[in-house]
Amino acid sequence: MKIAVLNGSPKGEISVTMQYVHFLENRFPEAEFKFFDVALKIKSLEKDEKAFGEVIAGVSSADAVLWAFPLYYLIVCSQYKRFIELIFEKGAAPAFRGKPAACLTTSIKFFDHTAQNYINAVCDDLNMNFFGSYSAEMNDLLKKKERQRLKSFGELFLKAIKEGTPAIRNNKPLIAPEVVFEPRGIKPVNAEGKKILIIADNLDENSNLRKMVERLQQTFSPPAELIQLKDIDIKGGCLGCMHCGFENICVYEGKDGYIDFYNKKVKTTDILFVAGAIHDRYLSSLWKCFFDRSFFNGHTPALQGKQVGFVISGPFNQIANFREIMKASIEMQHSNLTGFVSDDLENSSEINAALQTMASSSVAQSKLGYIQPPTFYQVAGAKLFRDAIFGRLRVVFQADHRYYKEHGMYDFPQKYYKWRMINGILVSLTRISFVRKEFVKRMKKEMIKPTANALRRTE
Ligand SMILES: Cc1cc2nc3c(=O)[nH]c(=O)nc-3n(C[C@H](O)[C@H](O)[C@H](O)COP(=O)(O)O)c2cc1C
Repeated sequence: MKIAVLNGSPKGEISVTMQYVHFLENRFPEAEFKFFDVALKIKSLEKDEKAFGEVIAGVSSADAVLWAFPLYYLIVCSQYKRFIELIFEKGAAPAFRGKPAACLTTSIKFFDHTAQNYINAVCDDLNMNFFGSYSAEMNDLLKKKERQRLKSFGELFLKAIKEGTPAIRNNKPLIAPEVVFEPRGIKPVNAEGKKILIIADNLDENSNLRKMVERLQQTFSPPAELIQLKDIDIKGGCLGCMHCGFENICVYEGKDGYIDFYNKKVKTTDILFVAGAIHDRYLSSLWKCFFDRSFFNGHTPALQGKQVGFVISGPFNQIANFREIMKASIEMQHSNLTGFVSDDLENSSEINAALQTMASSSVAQSKLGYIQPPTFYQVAGAKLFRDAIFGRLRVVFQADHRYYKEHGMYDFPQKYYKWRMINGILVSLTRISFVRKEFVKRMKKEMIKPTANALRRTE
């Protein structure tokens, strides 16, 4: 039995993820694993038909495909994303049709589920027989229980391959929107001195996107600044080298235009719009490269306090996973999501109204400095990063550690001494049955007492 492993780490063989695949290789000698470093070699795969053809031939001749990759910004890295785009662009999808597929990720388990949903959807779009996903934490291989779990996953996958078990399809095919957008009815919105920047990847590729972007740009008075990523000198994707962890200095510094662009344009704007077209189940790999390269900021909210909106062409409203990724990303930046406008709406007038609303609310919210309260994404994400940076990731991410200390982000609950004392007393007292009865009786009233005090306050 042959398994084609599509390695999605830009580090190639020297990758944490690949060690998990080698574990499976060792445990199941009856299966032959053939490795393809598609993320590392993306530049040659893009240019060299022969090299790309060899990967596709490897997939064709395999009995199954294993998508094995590290998490990069809630999904796959830009290089892997580009490989997936190439499959469709170069007409290689038939090689994948009907093949059993599984997904294996390594990460610190921040939005591993959205990355796996993405690969599941790509497999469904390729008409593969998707078996399932396995999420390994970076250090799981060191734990006996986790090794046993991974072995079971491997066993079940091999069984499914042998028996040709049909997959349960999780994603319907996407339907491209048919609306031809006609910009109309601009009501000028005074920018009130706010810096407004629209970043698009490439407007030449999509006329609806261009018209929506230009409509939004012209809605502001003065018009918003527009920059296209295709005009920025970006030499390549994030290499995952972690060089930036110490001082927030990227290995590309001084070698391309990305960092200057990010620091001088993106970080200094008040209102930011991300504009792009759907490519498979996300934006383009160029947009993904933009997000990955921002890793030089570490796990800190580099875009804190900004308003961020999205202008998207394509079947946006059919991809809940993509919306979740973007919503969580904005929250993690401590920015405010002003909205998503896509041409996946009923008609042009709905799109015009949505763009108008997004423009005016972005300025109104920016003037007030309004940032929506964090939801589960940010609350849970902050705790996960807090613990990871304080713990075993501190050596690698020393710049994050300094930032977290300076900004009070090490808010461990064991530091709440007052509550630890109150809890100690109340837990002991409520072991006594009549105290517990009285406690339960008074609980509702006691719960709103502090609010009553807050209501009396004027600010
Ligand atoms: C640019 C970048 C982005 C990352 N994004 C995430 C993420 O969104 N969620 C997560 O849990 N881990 C994230 N990680 C951590 C990696 O997924 C993790 O270290 C992985 O095990 C690396 O695997 P590799 O050595 O095979 O490349 C990120 C790492 C890098 C370099």
